[in-house]
Amino acid sequence: MNRLASSARLMIVSDLDLTMVDHHDSENLSLLRFNALWEANYRHDSLLVFSTGRSPTLYKQLRKEKPMLTPDITIMSVGTEITYGNSMVPDDGWVEFLNQKWDKNIVVEETRKFSELTLQSETEQRPHKVSFYVQKDKAQEVMKALSERLEKRGLDAKIIYSGGMDLDILPQGAGKGKALAYLLEKFKTEDKLPHNTLVCGDSGNDAELFSIPDVYGVMVSNAQEELLQWHAANAKDNPKIIHASERCAAGIIQAIGHFGLGPNTSPRDVTDLSDSKLENFDPAYEVVKYYLFFERWRRAEVENSELFVANLKAVSYPSGVFVHPSGVEQSLHECIDSLRRCYGDKQGKQFRVWVDQVLPEQICSDAWLVRFKKWELSGEEWQCCMTTALLSSKDVSVVEGLTWVHVHQTWLNGAGPIDHTTWVC
Ligand code: GLC
Ligand code: MG
Repeated sequence: MNRLASSARLMIVSDLDLTMVDHHDSENLSLLRFNALWEANYRHDSLLVFSTGRSPTLYKQLRKEKPMLTPDITIMSVGTEITYGNSMVPDDGWVEFLNQKWDKNIVVEETRKFSELTLQSETEQRPHKVSFYVQKDKAQEVMKALSERLEKRGLDAKIIYSGGMDLDILPQGAGKGKALAYLLEKFKTEDKLPHNTLVCGDSGNDAELFSIPDVYGVMVSNAQEELLQWHAANAKDNPKIIHASERCAAGIIQAIGHFGLGPNTSPRDVTDLSDSKLENFDPAYEVVKYYLFFERWRRAEVENSELFVANLKAVSYPSGVFVHPSGVEQSLHECIDSLRRCYGDKQGKQFRVWVDQVLPEQICSDAWLVRFKKWELSGEEWQCCMTTALLSSKDVSVVEGLTWVHVHQTWLNGAGPIDHTTWVC
């Protein structure tokens, strides 16, 4: 269930809509800031868990709309579906557990009797989740009456109200909090309990996350009334829970800093990346930094300076090769020359670059093989390249740090290039 050999340094368990993802931020800046922070500093020894109310269908939809990272674990449908890794392998043990004491037919029958309930779309009705919309002023009354009816029918169900409109009915043993407790228990039996866990949320279905013992919690600044009320009634004296002053992913970054859980400066917040030398140079940081520079160069957000070009050449092996996804080979230095010519070609346009699943592997004392996905969003088009880069710390003649030796890219899912003319890294 877990790619890490030992306990995660930090496990972030975050809701998506209006927590990790800000639907009011069309530039996705706070999400991109979080992404860069995570990939540069945490990916290799920490775990990212998304816990959403969305079904697999709507979750996959969101991933096509927003620049989201790939989580290690995905909890969907309000804690009723748990999957692992890239290929989203389901946790069958969780399904079996939820099947006990659950009868969806009873829920369907009883809810039909409430005219205040409007059924959500078919995709959101799941084996252990029945979902409706209900007006805010009717919610409390309906929840009370419904829970009495379900109890009379001998069903131990949980009713959750979120976002001032959604009403979910789940087995009592389900929910975001229960799913997290189940995961923590699994880690414990493997002797891999994360050193720190931070839960992040904004609405009613996230409340349970904040009641798990020993976890840190952040309610983002834009949290819904129902979550703040729950907090005031149940957890206001818990110093491990904060209400951030920042929205969404920026609130998560704020909490990492507030609780001292690790680095909290996103590379995106560093204007002069050439200055950001780490004590121990780090291949993941180097990769994040390079692609961020690439974005800024093309958006003309850095100075058009020969010094940058010289610096890039200085950290690229002179005989190093870049294999373009089309199969064409270029020397790394030629590639930098092409990049020089692209200065500002994306100025004033929608253009973002981010990296996902940056996983460096040290292959000998002075070399790292780094695998990652490089994403580009240009206008309306998305493009992803699986990338392998060989970085070495041997040739430190010019600048201190790592040298790029070889880079190889492949289109993900056979997708073609956006722009055939820009054959740059
Ligand atoms: C998501 C789901 C919806 C659910 C809501 C609150 O929006 O799509 O079915 O009711 O989360 O949990
Ligand atoms: Mg939310």
